[in-house]
Amino acid sequence: MMHVAFLLLIVFTDGASSKKVCSYQDVVDYLNLTTDNSVFKLTRPVLDYKHSTMVELDILLYAILAVMWNNERISWDPAQFCGITHISVPREMLWTPDLFIYEMIQKDDSPHNPYMYVSYDGTITFEEDVKVVSTCKMDVHKFPFDTQRCNITIGSAIHCVNEMRLLPSSNSSRATQFSREMMKSQGEWEFLQLSITSYNFTFNDRQWENLIYTFTMKRRPLLHVINFLLPILFFLSLDLASYFIADHRGEKLGFKVTVLLAISVLLLILNDILPSMSNKTPLIATYCIVIFALMLLSLLETILVTYLMEKDSVSREELRLRDKQEKVKIDNCNAECDGEKQHELLPVAEEVNNSIQPRESHVLLLILEELKELQTTLNLHFRCRQEVGKSGHWATKINRAFFIFYVTTVSLFLTLIFIEWNT
Ligand SMILES: *[C@@H]1O[C@H](CO)[C@@H](O)[C@H](O)[C@H]1NC(C)=O
Ligand SMILES: *[C@@H]1O[C@H](CO)[C@@H](O)[C@H](O)[C@H]1NC(C)=O
Ligand SMILES: *[C@@H]1O[C@H](CO)[C@@H](O)[C@H](O)[C@H]1NC(C)=O
Ligand SMILES: *[C@@H]1O[C@H](CO)[C@@H](O)[C@H](O)[C@H]1NC(C)=O
Repeated sequence: MMHVAFLLLIVFTDGASSKKVCSYQDVVDYLNLTTDNSVFKLTRPVLDYKHSTMVELDILLYAILAVMWNNERISWDPAQFCGITHISVPREMLWTPDLFIYEMIQKDDSPHNPYMYVSYDGTITFEEDVKVVSTCKMDVHKFPFDTQRCNITIGSAIHCVNEMRLLPSSNSSRATQFSREMMKSQGEWEFLQLSITSYNFTFNDRQWENLIYTFTMKRRPLLHVINFLLPILFFLSLDLASYFIADHRGEKLGFKVTVLLAISVLLLILNDILPSMSNKTPLIATYCIVIFALMLLSLLETILVTYLMEKDSVSREELRLRDKQEKVKIDNCNAECDGEKQHELLPVAEEVNNSIQPRESHVLLLILEELKELQTTLNLHFRCRQEVGKSGHWATKINRAFFIFYVTTVSLFLTLIFIEWNT
Protein backbone atom coordinates (compact mmCIF):
# COMPACT_ATOMS: atom_id res chain seq x y z
CA MET A 1 0.00 0.00 0.00
CA MET A 2 2.75 2.37 0.99
CA HIS A 3 4.71 1.40 -2.05
CA VAL A 4 1.90 2.25 -4.48
CA ALA A 5 1.31 5.64 -2.89
CA PHE A 6 4.97 6.43 -3.31
CA LEU A 7 4.87 5.61 -7.02
CA LEU A 8 1.82 7.76 -7.55
CA LEU A 9 3.52 10.65 -5.92
CA ILE A 10 6.41 10.41 -8.35
CA VAL A 11 4.15 10.30 -11.35
CA PHE A 12 2.31 13.27 -10.02
CA THR A 13 5.35 15.44 -9.58
CA ASP A 14 6.71 14.35 -12.94
CA GLY A 15 3.56 15.27 -14.67
CA ALA A 16 3.16 18.57 -12.92
CA SER A 17 6.61 19.93 -13.78
CA SER A 18 6.82 21.58 -17.15
CA LYS A 19 10.48 22.50 -16.66
CA LYS A 20 13.34 21.40 -18.91
CA VAL A 21 14.49 17.87 -18.18
CA CYS A 22 18.20 17.17 -17.95
CA SER A 23 20.15 14.02 -17.52
CA TYR A 24 23.69 13.38 -16.50
CA GLN A 25 24.29 12.30 -20.06
CA ASP A 26 23.59 15.85 -21.20
CA VAL A 27 26.48 17.01 -19.08
CA VAL A 28 28.69 14.25 -20.37
CA ASP A 29 27.74 15.09 -23.95
CA TYR A 30 28.38 18.75 -23.37
CA LEU A 31 31.81 17.99 -22.03
CA ASN A 32 32.50 15.69 -24.97
CA LEU A 33 33.39 13.07 -22.40
CA THR A 34 33.43 9.71 -24.11
CA THR A 35 35.32 6.57 -23.35
CA ASP A 36 37.46 6.96 -26.45
CA ASN A 37 38.17 10.62 -25.86
CA SER A 38 41.82 10.67 -25.02
CA VAL A 39 41.88 14.39 -24.13
CA PHE A 40 40.68 13.60 -20.65
CA LYS A 41 42.92 10.64 -20.05
CA LEU A 42 46.25 11.05 -21.67
CA THR A 43 47.76 14.10 -20.02
CA ARG A 44 47.67 15.98 -16.83
CA PRO A 45 44.49 18.04 -17.02
CA VAL A 46 45.90 21.55 -17.31
CA LEU A 47 45.27 24.03 -20.09
CA ASP A 48 48.61 25.71 -19.55
CA TYR A 49 51.39 23.21 -18.92
CA LYS A 50 52.95 25.60 -16.38
CA HIS A 51 50.02 25.14 -14.03
CA SER A 52 50.54 22.60 -11.34
CA THR A 53 47.81 20.27 -10.22
CA MET A 54 46.89 20.56 -6.59
CA VAL A 55 46.06 17.21 -5.13
CA GLU A 56 44.50 17.29 -1.72
CA LEU A 57 44.30 14.10 0.17
CA ASP A 58 43.19 12.72 3.42
CA ILE A 59 44.03 9.51 5.16
CA LEU A 60 41.98 8.26 8.03
CA LEU A 61 42.98 5.26 9.97
CA TYR A 62 42.03 2.06 8.26
CA ALA A 63 43.45 3.92 5.29
CA ILE A 64 40.53 5.61 3.73
CA LEU A 65 42.10 7.69 1.06
CA ALA A 66 40.17 10.76 -0.01
CA VAL A 67 41.82 12.48 -2.95
CA MET A 68 40.73 15.69 -4.53
CA TRP A 69 42.16 17.62 -7.47
CA ASN A 70 41.12 19.99 -10.18
CA ASN A 71 40.60 19.18 -13.84
CA GLU A 72 40.88 22.37 -15.85
CA ARG A 73 39.24 20.87 -18.90
CA ILE A 74 36.00 20.29 -17.09
CA SER A 75 33.51 22.94 -16.20
CA TRP A 76 29.88 23.59 -16.85
CA ASP A 77 27.26 25.95 -15.75
CA PRO A 78 24.82 24.18 -13.42
CA ALA A 79 22.12 26.62 -14.40
CA GLN A 80 22.16 25.25 -17.96
CA PHE A 81 21.64 21.74 -16.71
CA CYS A 82 18.85 22.15 -14.19
CA GLY A 83 21.29 22.71 -11.39
CA ILE A 84 23.34 19.52 -11.79
CA THR A 85 26.50 20.19 -9.89
CA HIS A 86 27.98 16.67 -9.69
CA ILE A 87 28.19 13.70 -11.95
CA SER A 88 29.87 10.42 -11.28
CA VAL A 89 31.97 8.87 -13.99
CA PRO A 90 34.04 5.69 -14.18
CA ARG A 91 37.57 6.18 -13.02
CA GLU A 92 39.02 5.06 -16.33
CA MET A 93 37.51 8.02 -18.16
CA LEU A 94 39.65 10.68 -16.56
CA TRP A 95 43.20 11.29 -15.60
CA THR A 96 44.03 10.35 -12.00
CA PRO A 97 47.11 11.25 -10.00
CA ASP A 98 49.59 8.42 -9.73
CA LEU A 99 49.81 8.25 -5.97
CA PHE A 100 51.45 5.37 -4.31
CA ILE A 101 52.32 4.40 -0.78
CA TYR A 102 56.03 3.81 -0.33
CA GLU A 103 55.72 1.41 2.60
CA MET A 104 53.12 -0.83 1.05
CA ILE A 105 54.49 -4.35 0.76
CA GLN A 106 51.44 -6.25 -0.33
CA LYS A 107 49.21 -5.58 -3.31
CA ASP A 108 45.91 -4.27 -2.09
CA ASP A 109 43.25 -6.68 -3.25
CA SER A 110 40.28 -5.07 -1.59
CA PRO A 111 37.56 -4.04 -4.07
CA HIS A 112 38.16 -0.66 -5.66
CA ASN A 113 35.64 2.06 -5.88
CA PRO A 114 35.01 2.28 -9.66
CA TYR A 115 33.57 5.81 -9.76
CA MET A 116 34.72 9.35 -9.17
CA TYR A 117 32.73 12.45 -8.50
CA VAL A 118 33.14 15.28 -10.96
CA SER A 119 32.04 18.70 -9.86
CA TYR A 120 30.89 21.52 -12.18
CA ASP A 121 33.97 23.58 -11.36
CA GLY A 122 36.28 20.77 -12.40
CA THR A 123 37.02 19.45 -8.93
CA ILE A 124 37.31 15.71 -8.98
CA THR A 125 36.95 13.70 -5.82
CA PHE A 126 37.51 10.09 -5.27
CA GLU A 127 37.52 8.04 -2.15
CA GLU A 128 38.94 4.66 -1.68
CA ASP A 129 39.30 2.12 1.07
CA VAL A 130 42.84 0.88 0.93
CA LYS A 131 44.06 -1.95 3.03
CA VAL A 132 47.69 -1.18 3.63
CA VAL A 133 50.11 -3.84 4.75
CA SER A 134 53.17 -1.77 5.38
CA THR A 135 56.64 -2.07 6.70
CA CYS A 136 57.24 -0.37 9.98
CA LYS A 137 60.45 -0.28 11.89
CA MET A 138 59.49 -1.27 15.38
CA ASP A 139 61.43 -0.56 18.50
CA VAL A 140 60.65 -3.36 20.93
CA HIS A 141 63.13 -2.28 23.57
CA LYS A 142 60.32 -1.56 26.00
CA PHE A 143 58.07 -4.44 25.01
CA PRO A 144 55.30 -4.90 26.24
CA PHE A 145 55.12 -1.26 27.36
CA ASP A 146 56.10 0.10 23.98
CA THR A 147 54.76 2.85 21.75
CA GLN A 148 55.25 2.49 18.04
CA ARG A 149 55.38 5.08 15.29
CA CYS A 150 54.70 3.96 11.78
CA ASN A 151 54.96 6.11 8.67
CA ILE A 152 52.82 5.96 5.63
CA THR A 153 54.46 8.01 2.93
CA ILE A 154 52.41 9.03 -0.09
CA GLY A 155 53.94 10.45 -3.17
CA SER A 156 53.71 10.61 -6.90
CA ALA A 157 55.87 8.32 -8.93
CA ILE A 158 56.67 10.64 -11.82
CA HIS A 159 55.21 14.08 -11.22
CA CYS A 160 57.67 16.51 -9.67
CA VAL A 161 56.83 19.18 -7.19
CA ASN A 162 56.33 21.86 -9.87
CA GLU A 163 53.85 19.67 -11.72
CA MET A 164 51.94 18.24 -8.84
CA ARG A 165 51.65 19.47 -5.30
CA LEU A 166 50.36 17.28 -2.50
CA LEU A 167 48.43 19.00 0.23
CA PRO A 168 46.84 17.45 3.28
CA SER A 169 43.20 18.44 3.39
CA SER A 170 42.95 18.23 7.15
CA ASN A 171 45.55 19.14 9.73
CA SER A 172 47.04 16.73 12.24
CA SER A 173 44.62 17.41 15.09
CA ARG A 174 41.59 17.00 12.89
CA ALA A 175 42.89 13.82 11.30
CA THR A 176 43.59 12.40 14.76
CA GLN A 177 40.09 13.23 15.90
CA PHE A 178 38.54 11.72 12.77
CA SER A 179 40.52 8.52 13.09
CA ARG A 180 39.59 8.18 16.76
CA GLU A 181 35.94 8.43 15.84
CA MET A 182 36.33 5.86 13.08
CA MET A 183 37.97 3.30 15.28
CA LYS A 184 35.58 1.17 17.18
CA SER A 185 37.69 -1.73 18.37
CA GLN A 186 41.38 -1.25 18.60
CA GLY A 187 42.59 -4.70 19.53
CA GLU A 188 46.01 -4.94 21.02
CA TRP A 189 46.89 -1.40 20.01
CA GLU A 190 45.61 1.87 21.30
CA PHE A 191 45.65 4.58 18.66
CA LEU A 192 47.19 7.76 20.03
CA GLN A 193 47.61 10.19 17.17
CA LEU A 194 48.05 10.77 13.50
CA SER A 195 50.37 13.53 12.42
CA ILE A 196 51.04 14.82 8.95
CA THR A 197 54.28 16.24 7.65
CA SER A 198 55.26 17.35 4.22
CA TYR A 199 58.63 16.46 2.82
CA ASN A 200 60.41 17.22 -0.42
CA PHE A 201 62.34 14.28 -1.73
CA THR A 202 65.23 15.30 -3.96
CA PHE A 203 66.81 13.05 -6.53
CA ASN A 204 68.84 14.05 -9.60
CA ASP A 205 67.98 17.74 -9.15
CA ARG A 206 64.33 16.91 -9.25
CA GLN A 207 62.04 17.23 -6.30
CA TRP A 208 59.02 15.16 -5.42
CA GLU A 209 56.62 16.18 -2.76
CA ASN A 210 55.71 13.51 -0.26
CA LEU A 211 53.22 13.49 2.54
CA ILE A 212 54.15 11.49 5.59
CA TYR A 213 51.37 10.30 7.83
CA THR A 214 52.78 9.14 11.15
CA PHE A 215 50.62 6.86 13.22
CA THR A 216 51.44 6.65 16.89
CA MET A 217 50.03 3.75 18.80
CA LYS A 218 50.58 2.20 22.15
CA ARG A 219 50.50 -1.48 22.94
CA ARG A 220 48.05 -2.61 25.58
CA PRO A 221 50.35 -4.49 27.94
CA LEU A 222 47.80 -6.18 30.21
CA LEU A 223 47.76 -9.52 28.40
CA HIS A 224 51.53 -9.85 28.46
CA VAL A 225 51.72 -8.73 32.07
CA ILE A 226 49.22 -11.38 33.14
CA ASN A 227 50.58 -14.08 30.87
CA PHE A 228 54.22 -13.54 31.36
CA LEU A 229 55.64 -10.91 33.71
CA LEU A 230 53.56 -11.84 36.74
CA PRO A 231 54.10 -15.63 36.55
CA ILE A 232 57.85 -15.06 36.46
CA LEU A 233 57.58 -12.82 39.52
CA PHE A 234 55.52 -15.50 41.26
CA PHE A 235 58.14 -18.14 40.56
CA LEU A 236 60.83 -15.79 41.77
CA SER A 237 59.00 -15.28 45.06
CA LEU A 238 58.57 -19.06 45.36
CA ASP A 239 62.30 -19.40 44.91
CA LEU A 240 62.87 -16.75 47.55
CA ALA A 241 60.47 -18.49 49.92
CA SER A 242 62.32 -21.77 49.51
CA TYR A 243 64.97 -20.33 51.81
CA PHE A 244 62.65 -21.22 54.66
CA ILE A 245 62.36 -24.87 53.64
CA ALA A 246 64.32 -27.03 56.09
CA ASP A 247 67.47 -28.41 54.51
CA HIS A 248 66.59 -32.07 54.51
CA ARG A 249 68.62 -34.02 52.02
CA GLY A 250 67.75 -32.50 48.64
CA GLU A 251 64.12 -31.54 49.28
CA LYS A 252 65.01 -27.91 48.74
CA LEU A 253 67.13 -28.83 45.76
CA GLY A 254 64.24 -30.62 44.10
CA PHE A 255 61.95 -27.69 44.74
CA LYS A 256 64.35 -25.20 43.23
CA VAL A 257 64.96 -27.31 40.14
CA THR A 258 61.19 -27.54 39.61
CA VAL A 259 60.81 -23.76 39.82
CA LEU A 260 63.69 -23.29 37.39
CA LEU A 261 62.05 -25.69 34.94
CA ALA A 262 58.80 -23.74 35.18
CA ILE A 263 60.68 -20.56 34.28
CA SER A 264 62.26 -22.29 31.30
CA VAL A 265 58.79 -23.12 29.99
CA LEU A 266 57.84 -19.45 30.32
CA LEU A 267 60.97 -18.52 28.37
CA LEU A 268 59.69 -20.66 25.51
CA ILE A 269 56.51 -18.56 25.52
CA LEU A 270 58.63 -15.41 25.34
CA ASN A 271 60.14 -16.73 22.15
CA ASP A 272 56.66 -16.70 20.62
CA ILE A 273 55.45 -13.30 21.77
CA LEU A 274 58.55 -11.19 21.31
CA PRO A 275 58.91 -9.57 17.90
CA SER A 276 62.33 -10.67 16.75
CA MET A 277 63.46 -7.54 14.94
CA SER A 278 65.44 -5.26 17.19
CA ASN A 279 68.92 -3.88 17.56
CA LYS A 280 68.75 -3.12 21.26
CA THR A 281 68.17 -5.94 23.71
CA PRO A 282 64.54 -5.79 24.76
CA LEU A 283 64.11 -5.08 28.45
CA ILE A 284 61.90 -8.11 28.81
CA ALA A 285 64.81 -10.31 27.72
CA THR A 286 67.05 -8.68 30.33
CA TYR A 287 64.31 -9.23 32.88
CA CYS A 288 64.11 -12.93 32.03
CA ILE A 289 67.81 -13.54 31.77
CA VAL A 290 68.66 -11.81 35.04
CA ILE A 291 65.88 -13.55 36.96
CA PHE A 292 66.84 -16.86 35.42
CA ALA A 293 70.49 -16.25 36.32
CA LEU A 294 69.59 -15.31 39.89
CA MET A 295 67.54 -18.46 40.30
CA LEU A 296 70.33 -20.51 38.79
CA LEU A 297 72.74 -18.94 41.26
CA SER A 298 70.39 -19.76 44.09
CA LEU A 299 70.20 -23.34 42.86
CA LEU A 300 73.99 -23.55 42.76
CA GLU A 301 74.17 -22.13 46.27
CA THR A 302 71.72 -24.78 47.46
CA ILE A 303 73.87 -27.44 45.82
CA LEU A 304 76.92 -26.08 47.64
CA VAL A 305 75.13 -26.00 50.97
CA THR A 306 73.74 -29.48 50.43
CA TYR A 307 77.26 -30.64 49.61
CA LEU A 308 78.62 -29.10 52.80
CA MET A 309 75.87 -30.70 54.85
CA GLU A 310 76.50 -34.02 53.16
CA LYS A 311 80.20 -33.75 53.88
CA ASP A 312 79.34 -32.90 57.44
CA SER A 313 77.13 -35.90 57.93
CA VAL A 314 79.73 -38.11 56.22
CA SER A 315 82.39 -36.89 58.64
CA ARG A 316 79.96 -37.47 61.47
CA GLU A 317 79.39 -40.97 60.19
CA GLU A 318 83.12 -41.53 59.98
CA LEU A 319 83.53 -40.24 63.50
CA ARG A 320 80.87 -42.52 64.75
CA LEU A 321 82.57 -45.43 63.03
CA ARG A 322 85.93 -44.45 64.47
CA ASP A 323 84.46 -44.01 67.88
CA LYS A 324 82.78 -47.35 67.59
CA GLN A 325 86.16 -48.88 66.75
CA GLU A 326 87.70 -47.01 69.66
CA LYS A 327 84.91 -48.23 71.85
CA VAL A 328 85.53 -51.73 70.67
CA LYS A 329 89.20 -51.20 71.47
CA ILE A 330 88.32 -49.78 74.87
CA ASP A 331 86.00 -52.70 75.41
CA ASN A 332 88.77 -55.06 74.45
CA CYS A 333 91.09 -53.16 76.71
CA ASN A 334 88.47 -53.29 79.39
CA ALA A 335 88.19 -56.98 78.93
CA GLU A 336 91.97 -57.35 79.15
CA CYS A 337 92.20 -54.91 82.01
CA ASP A 338 89.36 -56.68 83.65
CA GLY A 339 91.35 -59.86 83.36
CA GLU A 340 94.42 -58.21 84.91
CA LYS A 341 92.32 -56.45 87.46
CA GLN A 342 90.64 -59.64 88.29
CA HIS A 343 94.05 -61.10 88.88
CA GLU A 344 95.06 -58.06 90.93
CA LEU A 345 91.79 -57.83 92.62
CA LEU A 346 91.69 -61.41 93.51
CA PRO A 347 93.90 -61.18 96.59
CA VAL A 348 92.14 -58.00 97.69
CA ALA A 349 88.87 -59.63 97.08
CA GLU A 350 90.03 -62.45 99.00
CA GLU A 351 91.08 -60.01 101.69
CA VAL A 352 87.75 -58.25 101.71
CA ASN A 353 86.01 -61.45 101.16
CA ASN A 354 85.33 -61.52 104.75
CA SER A 355 83.52 -58.19 104.88
CA ILE A 356 81.92 -57.94 101.33
CA GLN A 357 79.91 -60.60 99.65
CA PRO A 358 81.22 -61.77 96.20
CA ARG A 359 77.87 -60.92 94.61
CA GLU A 360 78.12 -57.32 95.75
CA SER A 361 81.60 -56.95 94.27
CA HIS A 362 80.31 -58.20 90.94
CA VAL A 363 77.58 -55.48 90.96
CA LEU A 364 80.20 -52.85 91.66
CA LEU A 365 82.24 -54.02 88.69
CA LEU A 366 79.17 -53.81 86.49
CA ILE A 367 78.49 -50.25 87.65
CA LEU A 368 82.09 -49.33 86.86
CA GLU A 369 81.71 -50.73 83.38
CA GLU A 370 78.51 -48.79 82.83
CA LEU A 371 80.19 -45.59 83.95
CA LYS A 372 83.05 -46.15 81.51
CA GLU A 373 80.65 -46.67 78.67
CA LEU A 374 78.80 -43.51 79.61
CA GLN A 375 82.04 -41.58 79.57
CA THR A 376 83.00 -42.75 76.07
CA THR A 377 79.55 -41.93 74.74
CA LEU A 378 79.76 -38.51 76.24
CA ASN A 379 83.18 -38.03 74.71
CA LEU A 380 81.87 -39.08 71.32
CA HIS A 381 78.91 -36.78 71.63
CA PHE A 382 81.02 -33.85 72.56
CA ARG A 383 83.43 -34.37 69.68
CA CYS A 384 80.60 -34.91 67.28
CA ARG A 385 79.00 -31.64 68.24
CA GLN A 386 82.25 -29.81 67.67
CA GLU A 387 82.46 -31.33 64.17
CA VAL A 388 78.87 -30.26 63.30
CA GLY A 389 79.85 -26.77 64.24
CA LYS A 390 82.57 -26.61 61.62
CA SER A 391 80.94 -27.66 58.30
CA GLY A 392 77.33 -27.08 59.16
CA HIS A 393 78.13 -23.70 60.58
CA TRP A 394 79.63 -22.68 57.25
CA ALA A 395 76.56 -23.92 55.42
CA THR A 396 74.26 -21.83 57.60
CA LYS A 397 76.45 -18.79 57.19
CA ILE A 398 76.55 -19.12 53.40
CA ASN A 399 72.81 -19.65 53.35
CA ARG A 400 72.09 -16.51 55.32
CA ALA A 401 74.56 -14.35 53.41
CA PHE A 402 73.23 -15.57 50.10
CA PHE A 403 69.63 -14.93 51.13
CA ILE A 404 70.45 -11.33 52.01
CA PHE A 405 72.34 -10.90 48.74
CA TYR A 406 69.48 -12.50 46.80
CA VAL A 407 66.75 -10.34 48.30
CA THR A 408 68.80 -7.16 47.84
CA THR A 409 69.69 -7.93 44.23
CA VAL A 410 66.15 -8.91 43.30
CA SER A 411 64.57 -5.80 44.80
CA LEU A 412 67.22 -3.54 43.29
CA PHE A 413 66.93 -5.13 39.88
CA LEU A 414 63.13 -5.08 39.84
CA THR A 415 63.09 -1.43 40.87
CA LEU A 416 65.58 -0.49 38.16
CA ILE A 417 63.85 -2.39 35.40
CA PHE A 418 60.41 -1.04 36.26
CA ILE A 419 61.79 2.50 36.29
CA GLU A 420 63.33 1.84 32.89
CA TRP A 421 60.04 0.42 31.61
CA ASN A 422 58.10 3.39 32.83
CA THR A 423 60.21 6.14 31.32
C1 LIG B 1 32.65 19.42 -27.84
O1 LIG B 1 32.87 19.16 -29.20
C2 LIG B 1 32.18 20.07 -30.04
C3 LIG B 1 32.39 19.66 -31.49
O2 LIG B 1 33.40 18.74 -31.64
C4 LIG B 1 32.70 21.47 -29.81
O3 LIG B 1 32.00 22.38 -30.61
C5 LIG B 1 32.51 21.83 -28.33
O4 LIG B 1 33.07 23.11 -28.05
C6 LIG B 1 33.15 20.81 -27.46
N1 LIG B 1 32.87 21.08 -26.06
C7 LIG B 1 33.79 21.38 -25.14
C8 LIG B 1 33.34 21.62 -23.76
O5 LIG B 1 34.96 21.39 -25.42
C1 LIG C 1 58.75 8.84 9.91
O1 LIG C 1 58.80 10.13 9.39
C2 LIG C 1 59.44 11.08 10.24
C3 LIG C 1 59.28 12.45 9.61
O2 LIG C 1 59.95 12.53 8.42
C4 LIG C 1 60.87 10.67 10.43
O3 LIG C 1 61.51 11.57 11.29
C5 LIG C 1 60.93 9.28 11.03
O4 LIG C 1 62.23 8.83 11.12
C6 LIG C 1 60.13 8.31 10.17
N1 LIG C 1 60.03 7.06 10.88
C7 LIG C 1 60.29 5.89 10.30
C8 LIG C 1 60.09 4.69 11.17
O5 LIG C 1 60.63 5.79 9.16
C1 LIG D 1 42.88 22.17 12.27
O1 LIG D 1 41.72 22.34 11.47
C2 LIG D 1 40.53 22.71 12.18
C3 LIG D 1 39.40 22.81 11.20
O2 LIG D 1 39.64 22.13 10.03
C4 LIG D 1 40.77 24.04 12.90
O3 LIG D 1 39.62 24.39 13.67
C5 LIG D 1 41.97 23.92 13.80
O4 LIG D 1 42.27 25.15 14.39
C6 LIG D 1 43.20 23.45 13.03
N1 LIG D 1 44.28 23.20 13.93
C7 LIG D 1 45.51 23.67 13.72
C8 LIG D 1 46.55 23.31 14.74
O5 LIG D 1 45.81 24.27 12.74
C1 LIG E 1 58.66 21.63 -1.31
O1 LIG E 1 58.84 22.38 -2.48
C2 LIG E 1 57.77 23.29 -2.78
C3 LIG E 1 58.06 23.95 -4.11
O2 LIG E 1 59.35 24.36 -4.24
C4 LIG E 1 57.69 24.33 -1.64
O3 LIG E 1 56.64 25.23 -1.88
C5 LIG E 1 57.44 23.57 -0.34
O4 LIG E 1 57.44 24.48 0.75
C6 LIG E 1 58.53 22.54 -0.12
N1 LIG E 1 58.18 21.76 1.05
C7 LIG E 1 59.06 21.52 2.03
C8 LIG E 1 58.57 20.68 3.14
O5 LIG E 1 60.18 21.96 1.99
